[in-house]
Amino acid sequence: MKITYYGHSSFELEINGKHLLVDPFISPNPKSASIDINTLKADYILLTHAHYDHIMDVDALVERTKAKIISNHEVVTYFNTNKGYEGHAMNQGGSWDFDFGRVKVVSAIHSSSFPDGTYGGNPVGFIISAEGKSIYISGDTALTMDMKLIPLFFKLDAALLPIGGNFTMDIDEAVVAADFIECDKIIGMHYDTAPYIEINHDAAKAKFSSKGKELVLLEIGDSINV
Ligand code: NI
Ligand code: MN
Repeated sequence: MKITYYGHSSFELEINGKHLLVDPFISPNPKSASIDINTLKADYILLTHAHYDHIMDVDALVERTKAKIISNHEVVTYFNTNKGYEGHAMNQGGSWDFDFGRVKVVSAIHSSSFPDGTYGGNPVGFIISAEGKSIYISGDTALTMDMKLIPLFFKLDAALLPIGGNFTMDIDEAVVAADFIECDKIIGMHYDTAPYIEINHDAAKAKFSSKGKELVLLEIGDSINV
């Protein structure tokens, strides 16, 4: 799996020849100015919840690419009813085999409403299993004991975790989360986009390495193979 970072919580996953975009918030993010969403490929768009900083580029991307939305029932229904976009609705605890791999939906501790106030269902995380690997995309979440359930069923090769604090768990809690999910390679997200989620990169990496774990902080536009 190739994972490319587009800033904030936005990632592209290339899996079995398919392009998946996660929580696209790229064109409104000044830090992601180097990324042109009109050049991005998308077969699927995975949305962890309905907050604006996770969905702002959905319209432009779906209208151009016809990508299918994978999210919870309320988010998929919202886009289908209001805009006619196609989607595959799932919910916490559910799994489905797509043409790129298997998706498991897990819980997240957060909230979820659209910019217009519409209820966005429960926020979720995703575990994607494909090409013999499994990765966890937690979405916006607090540290939660539910994370301990994940290694009962999955051996994670990498995890995308929020580390910026204020809206989500912070670095210290993400270190504990990495223990709960039994994963040694953490890719940070949801940091540095705005002043109250700015982090010290060197200090954050040191906290992970002191526990024998790696924190990867990708430059916007950079990729990592897992
Ligand atoms: Ni959020
Ligand atoms: Mn967010």
